[in-house]
Amino acid sequence: MNRKIHVRTQSHQYSAHVGQNILSDALEATLPSQSIDELFVLIDDNVFEHHWPEIDMALQAHTNQLLRMKVPEGEKSKSVEFWSEVMDFLLNNKVRRNTPLIVIGGGVTGDLGGFAAATALRGLPLIHIPTTLLAMVDSSIGGKTGVNHDAGKNLIGSFYQPETVIADTRFLDTLPEREWINGLSEILKYAAISDQNIFRQAEIFLKKDFKSADPVVLIELITTCIKIKADIVEQDEFEGGIRAYLNFGHTFAHALEKASRYNTISHGEAVFLGMLAAKNLSELTGSNFAEDYLDKFRSLYTYRVSKENLSLDELTQHMHSDKKRTGKDLNFVLLKEWQHPVVKTVKDIQLIHQAWSAALNEL
Ligand code: GLY
Repeated sequence: MNRKIHVRTQSHQYSAHVGQNILSDALEATLPSQSIDELFVLIDDNVFEHHWPEIDMALQAHTNQLLRMKVPEGEKSKSVEFWSEVMDFLLNNKVRRNTPLIVIGGGVTGDLGGFAAATALRGLPLIHIPTTLLAMVDSSIGGKTGVNHDAGKNLIGSFYQPETVIADTRFLDTLPEREWINGLSEILKYAAISDQNIFRQAEIFLKKDFKSADPVVLIELITTCIKIKADIVEQDEFEGGIRAYLNFGHTFAHALEKASRYNTISHGEAVFLGMLAAKNLSELTGSNFAEDYLDKFRSLYTYRVSKENLSLDELTQHMHSDKKRTGKDLNFVLLKEWQHPVVKTVKDIQLIHQAWSAALNEL
């Protein structure tokens, strides 16, 4: 089963392919039929360890020369220093403007590689091969690229759309459970802001052996999420309006990630807590939810941070340095009701602290 979603943004149109064992066919559909002189590949270290022979075979069919650079696991690779190493790799090997850069990995490799593609020679054709659930449903779609700065996450970057995205679910076989749960947070985000049915579809994660779930169910779920994101990005590529809804839970999450120095809480864990906090703040500012649809997923998350080590003042301070802030007040994506996101300014710091406090009880 192979699903294809068209993403038509103002700046670019492309397809996202989703399926199992689709890599060769999707490359066939993407790359020119005659062999390309060179292909540049950025690949996550872990994906290289587990999958290189099959990836190599699929790519060798299209080129005379494959130039490869590995990206070490972890947020530290999303730095200006490592971006500069990627530039050395591309430029010292005389990359040309029409040479595709193929970026294979999760969110870190994708954001870094996307930014490298956007900046080398003012833009190389970019092919994303996301290998984590999070990257398949979220970060590989929509053109956000970038690296981190000491002042905060993703503060250096650009919007740069890929030529194509190939989400082959075979890569998920070797993904640790914790990484699946990271991706689940973004899936639940789509459920909360856009499609109630996803809460039910996501119940596959509540089964003990969710990693061996029916591939068709998983492909449908990933496809649904990509369609929602594509639809939003098509209407608002550069986040002047409704694209902000995709940040539901993220203002809280980015503060948590920063407070834990990007190493004791993963992005997905932070987003789940962030969504709980955003839902609390929605209630504190007037919304009423008859049901708590996030509740049944709480037990899937385990945390390596404790409430005692986090200060509400520090967390709120970090929210003030979030890049999405435009004025002096804090803006949040909240829910009027499920699937009705709204952007609200909240001036009352006590309410924000209460929202944090209730969410941090999970820790
Ligand atoms: N991850 C949110 C966005 O791409 O806008």
